[in-house]
Amino acid sequence: MGRGFDDVRRQTVRTARACRPARARDELDLSEAEPYSGIWEIAVKDRVALVTGGSRGIGRAISLTLARQGVTVVACARDQSALQAVQEEARQKEFPGSIDPRVLDVTDRSAIDTLVQAVVEQYDRIDILVNNAGITRDGLLMTMDDEQFDDVLTTNLRAVFWLTRAVSRIMVQRRYGRIINIGSVSGVAGNAGQVNYAASKAGLIGFTKALAKELGRRKITCNVVAPGFISTDMTAKLPAQVTESAKSMIPLRRFGEPEEVAEVVAFLAGDAGGYITGQVILVDGGMCM
Ligand SMILES: NC(=O)c1ccc[n+]([C@@H]2O[C@H](COP(=O)([O-])OP(=O)(O)OC[C@H]3O[C@@H](n4cnc5c(N)ncnc54)[C@H](OP(=O)(O)O)[C@@H]3O)[C@@H](O)[C@H]2O)c1
Repeated sequence: MGRGFDDVRRQTVRTARACRPARARDELDLSEAEPYSGIWEIAVKDRVALVTGGSRGIGRAISLTLARQGVTVVACARDQSALQAVQEEARQKEFPGSIDPRVLDVTDRSAIDTLVQAVVEQYDRIDILVNNAGITRDGLLMTMDDEQFDDVLTTNLRAVFWLTRAVSRIMVQRRYGRIINIGSVSGVAGNAGQVNYAASKAGLIGFTKALAKELGRRKITCNVVAPGFISTDMTAKLPAQVTESAKSMIPLRRFGEPEEVAEVVAFLAGDAGGYITGQVILVDGGMCM
């Protein structure tokens, strides 16, 4: 005689309960997480991160925030002395993590492959990848030349493809990874004078969502952090009139600070952010809602 519905349900519940702790530990990688201590710990200590554009602005803040939490940060950019200044700052503040400065032009595909190989040889892993390096070459579509369009697409999107492809192979082997791409509200809502930049950042969102679906079962999360106006060299070149009119459109009536973006990135990079993937998180003072 077949089993009744209640028998099957009871058995299913028993099996689920028996499996839950082991599966949860396995899927959330709690073996490496800090114990819960009343607030969510970021728990990124001892991890290795690669941050592009780590010398200035948002990338510098991300590098220092991660180093402050114990991460070994390979910070990349083209200007070696600017990177060394970030390394020195982490040293002087006696952060538990460190900054390892590496010169890299992200538009050079072979340099990317060489760098990733060198990092893996030295540290044996890359746990966190932050694709932050980005440029603008603003202008109206009708007067925009091919170079202006291609430069922005190459730095902001193609380079992300090259670097993420190389790093994801390492993450897949280790079955752990956090990929965080720095987008922009321009890629969500568009912005006049930025068809090249908006296309690159909108492309980054599609790239990230597709990748989140590809890599989720390998315990790798992929998200976009999309800043609004943040006070960096990138926005320092805006005319005062544009800055004032931008602020009037922001509910919080100010530009954000790089550290305010960095904290969101650090959250996603840590264990507390482990169940967030394929998302676009806006850090824009409420500008784009
Ligand atoms: N600031 C904002 O308001 C804002 C808003 C939305 C999104 N974002 C995004 O946030 C990210 C960082 O912006 P930011 O404002 O911090 O810019 P930033 O102050 O101009 O810094 C850009 C960083 O990227 C590096 N970089 C540029 N081209 C590179 C290349 N070819 N290879 C390697 N590194 C390169 C720069 O270093 P080197 O010049 O030394 O190479 C620098 O470290 C970008 O993706 C940007 O699109 C910024």
